[in-house]
Amino acid sequence: MFKLTAKALACALSLSIAGLAQAQSPIVIKFSHVVAENTPKGQGALMFKRLAEERLGNKVRVEVYPNSSLFGDGKEMEALLLGDVQLIAPSLAKFEHYSKGIQVFDLPFLFDNMDAVDRFQKGEAGQKLLRSMEDKNITGLAYWHNGLKQLSANKPLREPKDARGLKFRVQASNVLDEQFKALRANPRKMSFAEVYQGLQTGVVNGAENPYSNIYSQKMHEVQKYITESDHGLLDYMVITNTQFWNGLPADVRNELQAILDEVTVEVNKQADDLNEEAKQAILKAGTTEIITLTAEQRAKWREAMQPVWKKFEGEIGADVIEAAQAANAAQ
Ligand code: LMR
Repeated sequence: MFKLTAKALACALSLSIAGLAQAQSPIVIKFSHVVAENTPKGQGALMFKRLAEERLGNKVRVEVYPNSSLFGDGKEMEALLLGDVQLIAPSLAKFEHYSKGIQVFDLPFLFDNMDAVDRFQKGEAGQKLLRSMEDKNITGLAYWHNGLKQLSANKPLREPKDARGLKFRVQASNVLDEQFKALRANPRKMSFAEVYQGLQTGVVNGAENPYSNIYSQKMHEVQKYITESDHGLLDYMVITNTQFWNGLPADVRNELQAILDEVTVEVNKQADDLNEEAKQAILKAGTTEIITLTAEQRAKWREAMQPVWKKFEGEIGADVIEAAQAANAAQ
């Protein structure tokens, strides 16, 4: 009798220890990205980690992997779907296999400025795109800004004809591919981690990036000219694995979403400043001339790239493009 009780007690004890360990072992959230930490996305990921761990105590542990150190382009989406990472924030150019509508963000000269981007992302059409991949097990949680892209090369690009015949690195986006073809240049899809070397060795001659990416990857060291073209957008969608997200305890999920909303406000507020700081640092480095376009020159770039819109209107949806344009007018 005594023996049985002791055994039962030991068993109950070990079960409760196991239960305790289970209750205490934190949910691990791996956040993988491809840029440096001194960029809008890099800073956002770190702020998310800090707030999640502060506010959720032992319930959550966030591991941030910058600079393609865990997964690079081409692999990170697959890793998210396999559950090897729980959060990623690819640029909006990298979703074409999952949601054609998201290609709208790559259309050249679509948004007049970042306020218009903000209005579109917060509006009905933008919010719908966040939810457009749930049938593929991908949930969009937020849009994060980086900013507008600038063209760079080793020769001055003042007019579209200057880009003719040059090889430009592009992200994995058919829209961007067509954008450079419209200039009679040669686009080459390449992962972000390979861009510096590609430019250095001449595999490509030019690229398009916001200042924060140019500076943090030292691309200015291998590009003599940057044309301040503001011709397109490089923003992000923070995404998670739908099954993982829906399987979180409701209190944890709600708190994480609230934290992400807070981080989003901060990232989007600071992105412009980070890009301006990067621009000043490039000027200070003295490696690269920054070319300002006249209104006339800019109009020529716009005209040269404009045919891309029509090409993708069918895939994106005319209504989505209209909603984006309407965001320029709305104040
Ligand atoms: C790129 O590949 O140029 C960008 O998507 C990198 C990034 O995440 O900003």
